Amino acid sequence: MHVKSDTQVLVSRVIPVEPFDLVIFGGTGDLAQRKILPALYRRFRAGQIPQGARVIGAARAVMDHVGWCQFVSDALDEYLGQDEQEARAGFLAMLEYVTLDALGDEGWADLAGRLGAGRVRAFYFSVAPRLFAPLAERLHRFGMATAECRLVVEKPFGRDLASARSLNHDLAQHFDEGQIYRIDHYLGKETVQNLMAIRFGNMLFEPLWNSQYVDHIQITVAETVGVEGRGEYYDRAGAMRDMVQNHLMQLLCLIAMEPPAKFEPDAVRDEKLKVIRALDPVLAKDVVRGQYRAAGARPSYTEHVGNAGSDTESFVALRARISNWRWAGTPFYLRTGKRLQARASEIAVVFKETPHSIFGPEAGRHRNVLSIRLQPNEGIDLGVTIKEPGPGGMRLVDVPLDMTFAQALGADGHAVADAYERLIMDVIRGNQTLFMRGDEVEAAWAWTDPIIAQWEQAEHRVEEYDTGSAGPEGAHALIARDGRAWREIRA
Ligand code: BG6
Repeated sequence: MHVKSDTQVLVSRVIPVEPFDLVIFGGTGDLAQRKILPALYRRFRAGQIPQGARVIGAARAVMDHVGWCQFVSDALDEYLGQDEQEARAGFLAMLEYVTLDALGDEGWADLAGRLGAGRVRAFYFSVAPRLFAPLAERLHRFGMATAECRLVVEKPFGRDLASARSLNHDLAQHFDEGQIYRIDHYLGKETVQNLMAIRFGNMLFEPLWNSQYVDHIQITVAETVGVEGRGEYYDRAGAMRDMVQNHLMQLLCLIAMEPPAKFEPDAVRDEKLKVIRALDPVLAKDVVRGQYRAAGARPSYTEHVGNAGSDTESFVALRARISNWRWAGTPFYLRTGKRLQARASEIAVVFKETPHSIFGPEAGRHRNVLSIRLQPNEGIDLGVTIKEPGPGGMRLVDVPLDMTFAQALGADGHAVADAYERLIMDVIRGNQTLFMRGDEVEAAWAWTDPIIAQWEQAEHRVEEYDTGSAGPEGAHALIARDGRAWREIRA
């Protein structure tokens, strides 16, 4: 399945957009530096951001135009490396900056005066959730909430159902659902979208995509990083709120949903919502939580967050079940954690064994596994069983049919765009397919809340695990109980 010939090299296309105004609230923050600004610059370099578009930083910091350009330039140096000054100058020429008080009135009239009439205006809320409502209210009060206006809202979108509902309610005071783009950056990852192409663009898989043929599905998002500088936020969230409620559940939805009639925002989101609503409640015995231990000079989780008695999980594994016709009887095992042995995210669809082996017991039992690698090394491989080459009887081996996207896209291909590049341009183009709808987020919290509540009520301690391991012992026991095993976490 290696794609080799020139004619088969896949080329990324640039879809043109009209000039727009993008305002980044929290323009001097960490996410703007690490993700938003580099993503915009890469789209600019790809020729997708037209002359006349503007990127307006808005934050509390007092800064002039020159200071903002320097700030952005430093961020690009740090996260993308230095490149030709000429291209850089073109991008910096699009920048403007407004000092603004999210909780007061300072700066708002200035911002309103800068926006162009009749063009798309996107407001990126790259700030703490407590500022979402005040920002939305001021956009409305200062006359900026026009029909062309779009809000981009970062996670966390609430910390439970009640807070997510209240955020949805606050935004709905001034904006329609069609104007709200709730980001889950996993939906912008190349392979995640490819999941839909593989399922609904091929005849090969869909007939087998159900509990009759699929033994179980594993979703793993493993990281090697710890909580780094985000201890304060993370210790109040934990892996369940930080990763499972959003990223892993989105993956689960895409892998389990029914085919939408069209690849259109609400058609896709309706199907995802049905999956979440069909999820059974998770029993306490089907969830394992873990916290990483110290390793040499590397601090333990509790040292990292500066809270010796912390009961927050940096790892979670669980067994989920979807009660519908397609999936009744097929378990979905989900796990995610920090400080694990490799940075590796994958979805593995493990098919059932053949009903009968004509090759006798010596040939062993074999299963096809379709593995969808999100990162690193984005790609897909399908494990198939073949005869071991050579004489000596019929011995069977499992070999991968490997399609690594970097190969298919060509060596020089600016192969896989960062999720933020795609998502920001989708906002500008007005395409909500890869964004979460309000009812979807609420349904995800409605499923997650009781799991977290069980931990708070019952004796459900976190288990420690070694840095660099595959997680706590309990996670292995969880799946071994069903006579199965986790796949190796391998980059
Ligand atoms: C974020 C989480 O949403 O996703 C982080 O808050 C996590 O804790 C990150 O590290 C992982 O994203 P990625 O793209 O590196 O897999």
